[in-house]
Amino acid sequence: STLPFELETIMRGSFDHYMLKEIYEQPESLTSTMRGRIKKDEGTGRYEIHLGGVKSRLRDILSSSRIIFVACGSSYHACLAARQVVEELTDVPVSVELASDFNDRKCPLFRSDTCVFVSQSGETKDTLESLSYAKGADAVTVGVVNVVGSEISRQTSCGIHLNAGSEIGVASTKAYTSQIVALVMFALQLSHDRHSKDARRQEILAALHEMPYQIESSIKRIDEVTLRLAKSLEQSASILLSGRGFQFATCLEGALKIKEVSYTHTEGIHSGELKHGPLALIDDHMPVIFFAASDNTKGHIQSALQQVLARRSSGVFVIVCTEDDPDMLKYRGNMCELVEVPKTADCLQSIISILPMQLLSYHLAVYRGHNVDQPRHLAKSVTV
Ligand code: G6P
Repeated sequence: STLPFELETIMRGSFDHYMLKEIYEQPESLTSTMRGRIKKDEGTGRYEIHLGGVKSRLRDILSSSRIIFVACGSSYHACLAARQVVEELTDVPVSVELASDFNDRKCPLFRSDTCVFVSQSGETKDTLESLSYAKGADAVTVGVVNVVGSEISRQTSCGIHLNAGSEIGVASTKAYTSQIVALVMFALQLSHDRHSKDARRQEILAALHEMPYQIESSIKRIDEVTLRLAKSLEQSASILLSGRGFQFATCLEGALKIKEVSYTHTEGIHSGELKHGPLALIDDHMPVIFFAASDNTKGHIQSALQQVLARRSSGVFVIVCTEDDPDMLKYRGNMCELVEVPKTADCLQSIISILPMQLLSYHLAVYRGHNVDQPRHLAKSVTV
């Protein structure tokens, strides 16, 4: 029958693939994630956070000796992206665990721990196994899940729904950015009565409020730049991505996107680790993409990218940086291409900096004729 086909065309709208639709949908999905949770007092101009789903357990979470994030795949990268701001705002040590490794290690866990399970589907087998282990240890369990009614959302003692809308493409895009926003909101909620953190919280809240507009107004331009970039990478067998600080997660997630949909070997490497081995991979053929944010890591990033530039005389070299950054503009030239993205608060920059990598992986996959929404060997939800 033609009905399923027609339904699919309606759902995809004017986009060729769900992945592209979901990338372009991010201004709306992020707005949905924040709806009713971030409020601006028009009188004072101040923002307030209200996450109903975790309010009942705030005291327990704040008195925990550790907060442990547990997840797989892109959800794991979202945890890495949010880790620093959760530590900064709560003053509680945070660790991030791959669910599979957490399960292998039977990691020591106590009732004084909080475990946060982050999952788009809420059904991932390894993450569920970690959750039952955490419940056995009597730890506080929090779910950060997109699919309402899923196993993880039902089994955790409190949580946050992403409300990002259903994600159909196997490669996570809009769920990833909503996860970062949800985890940042979690940190904001945990620190809501900390006066010493108030200015910082207001800065982040105002930036969150601005973010959907920033994405909306720049996505088309970023798409055009990355389409050209995909053309120049079409023949590449391997690509290196590098970043640090808040952009370490971006380089890991960007590498995962490129691997899973374009089947190109891609590695995300912490910029501080380049000199401990990966620099040996640098030659005139190896494409390199750096993530340079306007934050406290900039000096380190500049010295890392100079070290790479000094070891080559041709090939694709890209810097993803914030718009009109004078420290980066000077690199623009025949040896180096800049992909400029809107600037936001340091702890939110990863949400915007991943956009060009989502689009790049998509265009590379399309150029190579791959099934973008359903890459070979992969499943949307890994339940076995
Ligand atoms: C699969 C998907 C990934 C996803 C991972 C974790 O591998 O292809 O996109 O990040 O599972 O899934 P979850 O639903 O737990 O976020």
